[in-house]
Formats: sequence, structure tokens, C-alpha cells
Amino acid sequence: MSDLQFSFKPIGILKSCYPDKFGVPRQSGLVKKAYSELQISSEFQPEFSLEGLSGYSHVWLQFVFHLNSSTRFHAKVHPPRLDGESIGLFATRSPHRPNPIGLSLVELVEVKKDTLIFAGADLVDGTPILDVKPYLPHIESKPDARGGWALEVQKDEIQVEFSDSAMEILQNWIKKTGKSELKEVITDVLKQDPRPVIYKGYESQESPYRNKHAFRLYEGDIHFQFTSKNHVIVFDILL
Ligand SMILES: C[S@@+](CC[C@H](N)C(=O)[O-])C[C@H]1O[C@@H](n2cnc3c(N)ncnc32)[C@H](O)[C@@H]1O
Repeated sequence: MSDLQFSFKPIGILKSCYPDKFGVPRQSGLVKKAYSELQISSEFQPEFSLEGLSGYSHVWLQFVFHLNSSTRFHAKVHPPRLDGESIGLFATRSPHRPNPIGLSLVELVEVKKDTLIFAGADLVDGTPILDVKPYLPHIESKPDARGGWALEVQKDEIQVEFSDSAMEILQNWIKKTGKSELKEVITDVLKQDPRPVIYKGYESQESPYRNKHAFRLYEGDIHFQFTSKNHVIVFDILL
């Protein structure tokens, strides 16, 4: 066993629309209009180091899962998509790894001086970014690749509904902030069913502790309830 150790310095800290881990999609690209931005630290000379990047539509982000609470190693993990079943860590994209480093493919919307605007990231606000690398479609795109267990697990589509009162709050929120994408972002987050496995299966019960939840988006709390496995209603938005 090698005792090599490395230390890395972030090139910047991501500002994202997700203040908390709960609600963050489980992979990049699932919530296409979730915008985030990264200001590259001046010591990395963005005026030079970003030259040429705007020619790419997508980039890979390497980052630290800085909010991981446990550092214990588990060789098998329970991905939410497997509903309680376990599988080998390296066959997953779990945040809980020997080195808590993540990899996300995001759309590069704009390069604004020293700041990169992304869409579709699956990262919490404040995530330290270690590197940005262009996605090379002519080399990295593998349309015939096997998708392993993750592709074998089929989930039914989830219908997302807004109560009249939640819709009214949402429309005022959009008007106030100019963020026309908010409804699509909320819908896409809920279509992924962000609930931990232990909270699933209580849809027909009246227990508010088990079947009423909220996730945070920017400054808003989105309150929702699953009424069946495939139907969720946004019943309130607190701003
Ligand atoms: C399954 S991981 C996949 C991340 C990346 N696409 C990858 O494959 O390495 C995505 C989850 O990581 C969690 N997460 C996002 N940012 C995090 C952070 N800064 N620290 C700890 N967990 C984070 C969220 O719960 C999110 O749903």
C-alpha cells in the first residue's frame, strides 16, 4: 500500500441554485435549466487560462464532495435507484468514495470574463471545484457504450402537479426574479424523486412526517407530497 498523498487547491467555489444536498439531482444533465456559476480565482489567471474555452458547449467539472459527513469506507453502497439493494462502490457514482472527488458533465452556457456559467450541474452551492476540462465529443461520446445496472433499472415517469396557491406564488417569484426557468427546474427535480428510500411507500398514509417534504431552491422552500408512487404535488412555496 502506497503512502503517497496529494493535496489540491480549488480553482474556485461554485455558486449553485441548490443551497442544500436534499433535492440536488443524482447526476448532471437531469435538470437541464439548473444554472450555476464559477469565478476562477485570480491566481489562476483567468484572463489567459480561459482563452479558447468558449468554443466548447460542455465541460467536465472535477470537484470535492465537501459536505460528506462520514469518512468510513464502505465497499458496497446502496444507490437510491436500487431501492435498498447494494452494489460495489466502483460500479456507482456515489459521493462516498476513498477520495471524495466527483465528476460532472455540464453545459457551458457562457464565459463572462473570469466567470463560467453552467447549466445542469448536480452540485450544492459552495462546492469546491478542482478543475474544468473541455468535453471532447469526437472522442468521448460513446453511443454504443453499455450502461450497466444503472440502465437496467427502469423507473415509471413521475407526474408533477402544482396546487393553485403554489402556482400563484411561483408566478410572483418568477416575476420578481426574472428566473423564467423556475417551474421547469422544480418539475425536473421532483421527476427524479429526491426522497430517501426510507421515506418511500408511505404515500397513502396521512403521516406528515413521512410523506411531506421540502427542498430548497435559491431562497425558496418547495413543499411537496407524493400522493402515489408516480404522482407528486407541490402544495406550497415559502419565500
Ligand atoms: C451521485 S453524486 C454524482 C456527482 C457527480 N456527477 C459524479 O458522478 O461524481 C450527486 C449527489 O451528490 C451530492 N452532492 C452534490 N454536491 C455535493 C457536495 N459538495 N458535497 C457532498 N455531496 C454533494 C448530492 O446529494 C447529489 O445528489
